[in-house]
Amino acid sequence: MIPLARPVIGAREEELVLETLRSGRLSLGPRLGEFESGFASRLGTEHVSAVSSGTAGLHLAIREAGVERGDDVITTPFSFVASANCALYEGARPVFCDIDPRTLNISAEAAAAAVTDRTTGLLPVHIFGYPADMPAFERLAADRALWLVEDACEALGGAHADGSTVGARGNLSVFAFYANKQLTTGEGGAVVCPSAEGKERIDSERNQGRAPDMGWLDHDRLGFNYRIDDLSCALGVAQLERLDEMLAGRARVAALYGEGLAGVEGLALPCADEGGDRRGWFVYVVQLPPGLDRDAAVVAMRERGVDTKLYLSAIHLFSFYRERFGHREGEFPVCEGVASRSLALPFFPELTDAEVEQVVEALRAVIDRPA
Ligand SMILES: Cc1ncc(COP(=O)(O)O)c(C=O)c1O
Repeated sequence: MIPLARPVIGAREEELVLETLRSGRLSLGPRLGEFESGFASRLGTEHVSAVSSGTAGLHLAIREAGVERGDDVITTPFSFVASANCALYEGARPVFCDIDPRTLNISAEAAAAAVTDRTTGLLPVHIFGYPADMPAFERLAADRALWLVEDACEALGGAHADGSTVGARGNLSVFAFYANKQLTTGEGGAVVCPSAEGKERIDSERNQGRAPDMGWLDHDRLGFNYRIDDLSCALGVAQLERLDEMLAGRARVAALYGEGLAGVEGLALPCADEGGDRRGWFVYVVQLPPGLDRDAAVVAMRERGVDTKLYLSAIHLFSFYRERFGHREGEFPVCEGVASRSLALPFFPELTDAEVEQVVEALRAVIDRPA
């Protein structure tokens, strides 16, 4: 079975993780700073705080941005659930608006129209690694005095039309390093902070609110245990060394899929880069032809040795969100349409040409001759 994802783990990863294991410094050791500074210089930024997950990073980032109980935070319903949940952790309310049908990112116009007196923040997501329209969100934030946090969890390797690296425009932004990501630490994440003081606060909050000198004598703010351990950071350091190669591998597979699946009637492929924006390839998600039975397609693909996954669902239609906020079908038609047709194909750097061909042939067959 061709799996959906597989991390690239080689001798270097084994060496650094083992070395760290044997060093006895398993948490808050030297690998933490090494990974943070390596990641920061890779992005071309200065202050990075590595944390236990992307979700933890989002939580700390919106706290640093100044979210408060009762606030409305504008975000996208077409995302992984954590980008909306993080507002709830702080007693704020995620307010959704519809997405752009080409990029599948939150529409900046819809976001502007959704701002009210209760809105205090914007949380755009670079979905599937395609850059969200940050210049528009930065203008909106400035015009309406809103805070701005970028969810760049899926977007390592992406770039904006103006040449800036996704997640490194000077806003608070968050990356994630789960095992299917462009770079993995097993579990892990990182917050990019515009200032040294911001990093200091986030470093403290990830570590139970310990005072900046990290002594045990005082906890001067509320904190969490959102630490990432040194074994994970060692893995991250090794992964950083091969990041270019891994990103190139993903781009190669995406190009092969693009060629192999071109011209299939009704099948929508991930949008091509446009206007200078560049996707950081994370997943390869297609939208099946309208009317095709997606569940049956998943089964048929499995029968042909290919794992696929329905990806993503609309957040506002999750039962928790329906019950808590009264959301219903039809609120965000573009998002719902995409969510009802989208299917993730196997996607990782070491997918061979033959495996890609097997996936392409299987999908073509399933679409041509549905069960
Ligand atoms: C868009 C987005 N936001 C947030 C997260 C949360 O990251 P993690 O799973 O590391 O908590 C993810 C990870 O899958 C994601 O894709």
